[in-house]
Amino acid sequence: MEERSIMPIRPRRNRLSPAIRSMIAETSISVQHLVQPLFVADGNDVKKSIPAISGMFQFSLDYLLKEVESCMKLGLTNFLLFPIIDPSHKDAEASYSYNPRNSFFHAIRMLKQEFPESCLIGDVALNTYHPEGSDGIIVGNVVDNDRTLPILANISLSLCDAGIDILSPSDMMDGRVGYIREVLEDQGFSDTSIMAHSVKYASSFYRPFRNAIGTDTSSRSKESYQLNPSNTKEALREAQLDAEEGSDIIMVSPALHYLDVIKNIKQQVHLPIAAFHVSGEYAMLKAAAQNGWLDYPSCLEETLISIRRAGADIVISYGAKDFAQRNR
Ligand code: PBG
Repeated sequence: MEERSIMPIRPRRNRLSPAIRSMIAETSISVQHLVQPLFVADGNDVKKSIPAISGMFQFSLDYLLKEVESCMKLGLTNFLLFPIIDPSHKDAEASYSYNPRNSFFHAIRMLKQEFPESCLIGDVALNTYHPEGSDGIIVGNVVDNDRTLPILANISLSLCDAGIDILSPSDMMDGRVGYIREVLEDQGFSDTSIMAHSVKYASSFYRPFRNAIGTDTSSRSKESYQLNPSNTKEALREAQLDAEEGSDIIMVSPALHYLDVIKNIKQQVHLPIAAFHVSGEYAMLKAAAQNGWLDYPSCLEETLISIRRAGADIVISYGAKDFAQRNR
C-alpha cells in the first residue's frame, strides 16, 4: 500500500469547493463600489473613440444620455465626468472653465434631470481649459497656487449650480479643499460632497488621459504639485489635510501602483477611500489583451479586487461598465 504522510494542517481544505471558497472570501467587489469615468464633448451626434483609452469615447449629450442609461440598467450608477473642450476655448486664465455657455454644465443639468438616482461626480480642474494642460495658473513660468484657488471655486459653483452630487478637485493646489468648502458653505451648497484627489502622484500613467483631452504633447511638468512616486509620508499628510479641510472622501491616484499607499491611508484616515485605476493602468491591460496575451475580463476583475483588498471603498475604473456587464 502507498505510504500516506500525516499532515493535519492542509490549507487546501479551505479551497476545495466553490461554496467553501466563496464562504471564506475576505474581499468583495460589486458594481455599487465602482465609478465609470466619462468624457463629455460639446455639440451633437459626437461619439468619437479615444484610441489611447481603448473602449472609451467622447460623447456629446445625446450619446451621453444613452450611455448613462445603459450603465444604470446594469446597476452602475456612479459617473466621474470630464469635459472635452474645443482648443479655441483654451486660454492662460482657463476662463472657459466657469463660463455659463460651457456645455459641460448643461450636460450635467440634463443628466441629473433624466437620472436623478445617479451619482454624478464632476472633475474640478483647469487643465482641460489651459493651453498647456496646466492645473494651475502660470505666473512667471511657475504655478501660482493662490491665484488658482478662486478659479477652482468658480468651477465648483458652476458644477453645483448644474446639480452635481460630488465635486472632485484633481489639481493638487494647497488649501483648495478648504477654499472650495468655504465658498460652498457661503453660497448655500453645504450638501455637496467633495471627493478630492488628495493623494495624486506625478505619474506617467496619466498619459492616455492627457491624450484624450489633447494635452499629452505639453512639456509642462506637474512635479511641483503632484507627489513624488517614491514618497509615502507626504501622502498621509495630504490625506489628513484634505480630511481636515472638509473633503468627504479621500482619493488616491493612480491605484494599482500605489496599493501600499491606499492601505496606509485606510488605516490612518477615517474617511471613505476612493482609488483611481487610471488610464495608463487600464491601457496596459487592454493592449495586452488586444495582443492575445491576457484575458481582459478576468485580469480586470483581479485588478479591481486587488484595489479593494488594499482598502479602497470606491474604485474608479474605465473598466467599470465591462465589469458590470460581466457580473450582472
Ligand atoms: C487632471 C487629471 C489627470 C487625471 C485626472 N485628472 C491627469 C493629469 O494630472 O495630468 C488622470 C486620469 C487618468 O489618467 O485616467 N487634473
